[in-house]
Amino acid sequence: MTQDEMKKAAAIKALEFIENNTIVGVGTGSTVNFFIDGLATMKYKITGAVSSSQESTKRLEAHGIEVFDLNSVGVLDVYVDGADEITNHMAMIKGGGAALTREKIVAAVAKKFICIADESKQVKVLGNFPLPVEVIPMARSYVARELVKLGGDPDYRQGVVTDNGNVIIDVHNLTILDPKALEMQINAIVGVVTNGLFALRGADILVLGCSDGIKVIQ
Ligand code: A5P
Repeated sequence: MTQDEMKKAAAIKALEFIENNTIVGVGTGSTVNFFIDGLATMKYKITGAVSSSQESTKRLEAHGIEVFDLNSVGVLDVYVDGADEITNHMAMIKGGGAALTREKIVAAVAKKFICIADESKQVKVLGNFPLPVEVIPMARSYVARELVKLGGDPDYRQGVVTDNGNVIIDVHNLTILDPKALEMQINAIVGVVTNGLFALRGADILVLGCSDGIKVIQ
């Protein structure tokens, strides 16, 4: 199986977790795009979706799936999203697509976080993938200096503006042995909106597309 086939297989498997007449929390990225296309085949069974990015909203609406404002829906049953890295403890790095803040918000209000990914995303220790940090533009240099103090190698993602009008700093060369502590530490830097560590609220279920089939890890 190719990487795309593994992503698609995981995305289609995750449809089994979607109950009738619910509003589905939808993440962002190439794996989620397969999920959205799958969701379209059952669009008359669901009430609609809450989206974590303009990109996913566009795709959902193109399929005729209604997208609700998060403030109008209360608690969500499930949130389905991809990851850039995920550990056996279900801690993740996310934000490769720059949608980390809205992803974290939608994930926070969902009862269950279902991570869909291909096997290349499973790691023992987080940090090989550069950690995205969303930053208020005027704080960019200050935040970068603070990230150096934490042992990272910050790199401004040129030309990218998030859906919230902010910028992204990717932090290279971190070996993240305590993801919860680092998530809190980086979020405490003034000017940081949030960072791409999803450890305080990790995934509940991992649907992993592998070359030898699909694994569901709870
Ligand atoms: C978007 O900002 C990210 O958090 C994505 O969920 C993550 O980058 C996974 O993307 P792919 O499914 O494209 O690998």
